[in-house]
Amino acid sequence: MTRVLGIESSCDETAAAVVRDGREILSSVVVSQAAEHAEYGGVVPEIAGRSHLREILPVVDRALADAHLDLDDVDAIAVTSRPGLIGSLLVGVSTAKALAFSRGLPLVAVDHLEAHAWAAVMESEGAPYPCTALIVSGGHTSLYRADSPLRLTRLATTLDDAAGEAFDKVAWLLGLDYPGGPSVARLADEGDPDAIAFPRYTPRGRASSGGDPPAFSFSGLKTAVLYHLRGGDALAPTPAPEDIPDRAAVAASFQEAVVDQLVARTIETTRAEGLDTVLVVGGVACNRRLRERMHAEAERAGLRAVFPSPAYCTDNAAMIAGLGFERLRAGEVAGWNLDASPR
Ligand code: KG4
Ligand code: ZN
Repeated sequence: MTRVLGIESSCDETAAAVVRDGREILSSVVVSQAAEHAEYGGVVPEIAGRSHLREILPVVDRALADAHLDLDDVDAIAVTSRPGLIGSLLVGVSTAKALAFSRGLPLVAVDHLEAHAWAAVMESEGAPYPCTALIVSGGHTSLYRADSPLRLTRLATTLDDAAGEAFDKVAWLLGLDYPGGPSVARLADEGDPDAIAFPRYTPRGRASSGGDPPAFSFSGLKTAVLYHLRGGDALAPTPAPEDIPDRAAVAASFQEAVVDQLVARTIETTRAEGLDTVLVVGGVACNRRLRERMHAEAERAGLRAVFPSPAYCTDNAAMIAGLGFERLRAGEVAGWNLDASPR
């Protein structure tokens, strides 16, 4: 039995968790800074770094207490070392190093994106590999081929914005709370998803016959929402949120356009790879419409879609501790010179 303490501080959540043998979550503590960034409509790196510094030790203490353990009962410490905001990552990496060094514990470096993919496997039995993994969050929208928990090869990524970023920006245009994903999704429940025909990005032709490679794009969609709000006149002023008559229809139609694109590209690319399972992870994987449509379309195509439960879609440290166990098992222990990397 191996108990790993995981630490996550790559963006705006300070998190720590204890996981047994890679899958059994003994505790998971997440402190979100969303309220501190809300008035800016996005994450402010300086605020994030300072907030992590304030929260990290209390969060680690709580994760240990919730698991009824002491630091001496832990077998290894895993920490997100990349990618993310450098000042934020450094808080987690320095803390993990200090704790591991003081107790003579192995230190394990974890890639945040690989850990998101692990979150979908962590809660299920067995191993779905090889499969694809759609990582869809505020900072990333990419589809990978996963041959093992530690071997991900990128098949497609976004040409511009991440899907979560598009949700956050459209929420801002509609005068909704930050983070935008949950607020847009809530308003979308009251609107008609077919009310407005927003564009869906589709690559031209097939890559196999000289066409564009598979990719996602959301900036055209975001601009289409803006022009719609301006009544079709690109140069008109953007109306105040309270003057938008069809806010729910905009939210629902925008969400549908994002979901359509994510589902279509994921299913067609997974089939082209000859695989039958797709892991769907990251903050946007909380989206109920995405979950429904991906399950339905996957089933229609003879595939299986696997989502983590919502608490493990968004940033958390259980996925870090879980994948940390897999790395430890593969003999991948980090040196005391471990550094954080934004990429
Ligand atoms: O994975 P995550 O917690 O942090 C990053 O690594 O980015 O994802 C946060 C993103 C935000 O952009 C947020 O608006 C989006 O996930 N999100 C959602 C939903 N819940 C969170 N987007 C759409 N629908 C949701 N229900
Ligand atoms: Zn994330």
